[in-house]
Amino acid sequence: MKALVLSGGAGTRLRPITHTSAKQLVPVANKPVLFYGLESIAAAGIREVGIIVGDTAAEIRGAVGDGARFGLAVTYLPQPAPLGLAHAVLIAREFLGDDDFVMYLGDNFVVGGITELVDGFRAERPAARILLTKVPDPSAFGVAELDPEGRVARLEEKPACPRSDLALVGVYLFTPAVHEAVRAIRPSARGELEITDALQWLIDQRRTVASTIVSGYWKDTGNVADMLEVNRSVLELLTPGNEGTVDRDTEIIGRVRIGPGAVVRGSRLVGPVIIGADTVVENSYIGPSTSIAENCRITGSEIEYSIVLSGSSLLGVGRVEASLIGRSVEITPAPPIPAAHRLVLGDHSKVQISS
Ligand code: G1P
Repeated sequence: MKALVLSGGAGTRLRPITHTSAKQLVPVANKPVLFYGLESIAAAGIREVGIIVGDTAAEIRGAVGDGARFGLAVTYLPQPAPLGLAHAVLIAREFLGDDDFVMYLGDNFVVGGITELVDGFRAERPAARILLTKVPDPSAFGVAELDPEGRVARLEEKPACPRSDLALVGVYLFTPAVHEAVRAIRPSARGELEITDALQWLIDQRRTVASTIVSGYWKDTGNVADMLEVNRSVLELLTPGNEGTVDRDTEIIGRVRIGPGAVVRGSRLVGPVIIGADTVVENSYIGPSTSIAENCRITGSEIEYSIVLSGSSLLGVGRVEASLIGRSVEITPAPPIPAAHRLVLGDHSKVQISS
């Protein structure tokens, strides 16, 4: 069995963070989303992984390398343009050969891994198995309708009027039967070869498309609210530890992990919290569900339920909540006169100010 991991895609929903980084590399609990997927694939006993890359190929290659540190052998497969998930299967034909494979969207997050699914698939080998989850807004996803026996009866990609609340999760298991399907379908209205249409083609050919419903076990990390939620759920499982320096005036409550070279002085950290390598926290409060990346500086500030990416600083800015702060960002107080917000914001930034 092989894996095909999709890491093209522009990530417009996560702007401005993804102006300077691929969406699959946005960190959750200080580790890129994509790495959790690669670890799940390795844990399921798969070794050969093809990674589909697009405009952000250099960054993905830089982060993942040859895959050896995940116990994987990675082959990079450039996709000339984002022409759809089924197009990715089409261009991976040679790499995939006649093996079964798991297709994993690099910006999806499946808590609990895929080992059981992969084992089950190896034993049963339906033409395909998809993962479904109940969502409040099905029209933003591929949507499945099941027959009374629980087999997939019908699929639609981002329907205006969804016939169920079962959305397709970005993890799919395939036998080589899918290759005929991706060759048979035509581009959708949005100009992409949809994997949903390939699956529907298999159903129409009376091939079995099985499904597994996962409840609350995944997040599409395509927007900020979901990023904060997935960060929170991963931090729930955090193993505490301290590889940095914490002074006696600091109070640490709950599960807190402090990276090598980090320094914490005169602060209160209420876990789950992760502090990256070489970050300095002084006279500050870091509240639950917060990830501070490496090389940051938090001084005289309070932050909770947030993600701060590398090299950023919060210096004397009171309380920050439910925020996603990018790389090398500086947040400082404005001078008292005139009483005004002073902002230098990049394109697509979003700021909520209390005034
Ligand atoms: C893709 C699939 C969709 C699926 C989703 C999961 O959509 O086409 O069926 O529900 O991934 O993340 P995209 O968000 O790439 O348009």
